[in-house]
Amino acid sequence: MQKLVIVGGAPLRGRIRIGGAKNASLALLCATVLAGDVVTIENIPDINDVRVMIKLIEFIGAEVEWQGSDCVRITPPEAIAEMPPYHLAKKLRASNLLLGPMLARFGRAEIPLPGGCNIGIRPMDLHFKGFAGMGAEITLEKGSVQATCKRLKGSRIYLDFPSVGATENIMMAACLAEGQTVVENVAKEPEIVDLANFLNCLGARVRGAGTDIIKIEGMTSLGGCQRYAVIPDRIEAGTFMVAAAATRGDIQLENVIPLHLEPFRAKLKEAGVDIIEGEECLRVKVSGPLKPIDIKTLPYPGFPTDMQSQMMSLLSTVSGTSLITENIFENRFQVVDELKRMGARIKVEGRLAIIEGAGQLHGTQVKATDLRAGAALVIAGLMAEGTTEITNVEYIYRGYHDFESKLNGLGANVKAMKNGA
Ligand code: UD1
Repeated sequence: MQKLVIVGGAPLRGRIRIGGAKNASLALLCATVLAGDVVTIENIPDINDVRVMIKLIEFIGAEVEWQGSDCVRITPPEAIAEMPPYHLAKKLRASNLLLGPMLARFGRAEIPLPGGCNIGIRPMDLHFKGFAGMGAEITLEKGSVQATCKRLKGSRIYLDFPSVGATENIMMAACLAEGQTVVENVAKEPEIVDLANFLNCLGARVRGAGTDIIKIEGMTSLGGCQRYAVIPDRIEAGTFMVAAAATRGDIQLENVIPLHLEPFRAKLKEAGVDIIEGEECLRVKVSGPLKPIDIKTLPYPGFPTDMQSQMMSLLSTVSGTSLITENIFENRFQVVDELKRMGARIKVEGRLAIIEGAGQLHGTQVKATDLRAGAALVIAGLMAEGTTEITNVEYIYRGYHDFESKLNGLGANVKAMKNGA
């Protein structure tokens, strides 16, 4: 077990290269189950969630070979070797994204009800509604989902909420269904567009990703893909942008798609952070006092829920009252108690957090309660007076590659140590 020890106070300065998107990579790895030939994916981040997903597809029967630090070559399975085991699937909510590809390709799938970060109930009813609409039989037994079908049939599916996972799962399954599938009220996140582009590289016919309606013409089989590069991680980029603002620093982010950061950039600007856009890069600096702001998390292009905790850390030092409304997950304010231990003044009323800027946080012992809460505590530690010790950092390594080295490269003082050291 490790902990992160942070000596706060240094403004972040310098350049940083952002890695490939975690959530897009996880979906693409699942999509390789649909492929008929070898696939090479570049710009894959070497983070724990990706490692777990690779193990899961290896259980199913894929052969995976790392080529360098951010590229994998995958020979897809020809038949299901084994169903994904409980001990691995429970580590990763995104293991549910294997359901659609396995069902469409092999006519059967069994996935232990997935785990992942404890940020809410996170049901799968919309995924099941989609599969059932395409003719699959779904049963829930002993904590597992079992799905079977002959060949899936193209269908018209309306999502009651634009769920990222349900959109991805149904889109992947529909690629091998008979006839056309139309999915309405879908998620529009950049990761959805990336997955659609990847599927089209394999020979699928997916149109409309990035809009409210996606249409998929089913094929009898898909091929391989010589090279596909995952989009940059907008949440990693956003985390470093907040860290720079929080430490009143000046950094340049490279390998970003500024458009993907727009919802979030707008809010940082509103708070008084200077953001200068270049080609595939952004400079973030703070030259004057920051202002309190109100944030509401919403599906893309709204403010991302995955950036809410990090913003809370920043706003806890900005004088005045800021409000954060969490509309996506019902249990995503767990970081509040930890921030309060560092001197933040935050009150939670249901889905609303009221933040009274406290000026200065002070270092103490805190624990990460989920991936983004962990990132938020690192940001709090960078701002705080004195030393902050963060435990449960396994959560952080699920989604950030080389987090402490990247921060230290920008002038921070962060050390990974064994618990008890
Ligand atoms: C994905 C992201 C996660 C991000 C989230 C929202 C991955 C691997 N994870 O998670 O980082 O925080 O999108 O942007 O891409 N819901 C239902 N029924 C369903 C499915 C979802 O009610 O069948 C609800 C969920 O409980 C939640 C909301 O819809 O309240 C959003 O969930 P969803 O968009 O599906 O998130 P994930 O795909 O799990």
